[in-house]
Parts: sequence; C-alpha cells; structure tokens
Amino acid sequence: MFITFEGGEGSGKTTIINSLNNFLASLQHQVVLTREPGGTRIGEKIRDIILDAQNIDIDPYTESILFAASRAQHLKEVIIPALQAGKIVICDRFLDSSIAYQAYARHLGLDFVLKVNNLALQYQPDITFYIDLDPIIGLKRISTRDKLDRLDRAQLEFHQKVRAGYLTLAKDNPQRIIIIDGNQSKEQIARLVIAHIQGLF
Ligand code: TYD
Repeated sequence: MFITFEGGEGSGKTTIINSLNNFLASLQHQVVLTREPGGTRIGEKIRDIILDAQNIDIDPYTESILFAASRAQHLKEVIIPALQAGKIVICDRFLDSSIAYQAYARHLGLDFVLKVNNLALQYQPDITFYIDLDPIIGLKRISTRDKLDRLDRAQLEFHQKVRAGYLTLAKDNPQRIIIIDGNQSKEQIARLVIAHIQGLF
C-alpha cells in the first residue's frame, strides 16, 4: 500500500505521519517512512539545491525538473522496491505537490509537469491525505521556525494558489484524495487518518 500526505506550509503533516507510522508498526506491519524532495542520498542533494533560500534565481522549469529528478531516484531506489516487497510506504509529499506547486501555483501547466513526471504517474498512491488549511494560518504557524526555506518564503498569494491547486486536484480525484480539515487538533486528524486506513484494510 502506497500512502501519501499533502498540504501547504504549516499544515502539520509530520506529526500526523508519525502517529500513523506508530499505529501501523504496532500492528507489526512493515512500514517505510520517507519524504520528498529527498528520501535518497542523491535526492537529498537535489533537495538542498531546491530549498536553499539563496537560490532565488532558480527558474520555475529548473525547479520542476529537479523535483521530478529527486522523485525518479526516490521511486527507483526506495518506493518501487518497498512496494514490491509488500511493505507499506508512507511518503510525505509526492507527485500531487508538483501539480499544486509547479503546475498550478507556478503556472507551468499540467502537461509539462506530468510529462517530466511520467515515471511517477505509473505509481500513483492508493490513498492521499490532503491536510487543508488557510495559508494565513499555516504561514503564521511556521513563522516562529529558526530557518525558513525558499518556498516557505514565497508570498501569501503563491500559497493561496497552491491551496486552490490542491482543492482542484482533490475534486478531480475523489476516490484517491481525502481532504482533511487542518484546523482540527493533530490528535483528531491522526484519528481520522487511522480510521480511513483501517477502513482500507
Ligand atoms: P519541506 O521542508 O519538506 O516542506 P513541508 O515540511 O511543508 O513538507 O519542503 C518542501 C517544499 O517543497 C514545500 O514548500 C513544498 C515544495 N514542493 C514542491 O514545490 N514541489 C514538489 O514536487 C515537492 C515534493 C515539494
């Protein structure tokens, strides 16, 4: 089973992912917990280039291709082998992030983003949890962090486009994408997520 989590900045994915991981581990499932961009040695190097707050001159096409490159390496090295071995893969962000951020918010369009992500398209998740939150709240939550990366620093308008992109994606994929109201407590959200996964089992 391939499970992904999506959401804007400050949506609280990490805590929820850890709760789900603990729950699945307590049932003796073999779980691989991973993230994008990154998840492999080469992917983490690509991640550093993409998120470096100094790289403000990075072109949107370059950015999109780098996310896709990190994803290709991740699929080949981590995701595909784990799924073939019958493990549960939980991934913090996947192709939907590229659609919301690059295709919609950066206006590169779906055609381009899907083309460079052709490999990922063949391995779409079984279920995706999108934690929906007003970016005004999300950005406020992360404003106290010591280090903000290049995308965290993007303007509110950009993050609003990301949210609109996710909501469009969720509307187009109602079978796969579950929208979760990110205003709830982390415990409540974790309970909802776990209930959905139990339903799938
Ligand atoms: P990260 O620190 O992992 O963010 P978060 O904790 O919010 O998940 O940084 C990843 C950033 O990269 C985040 O702003 C979303 C963005 N991103 C894209 O724009 N496209 C992508 O395909 C992916 C995977 C991430």
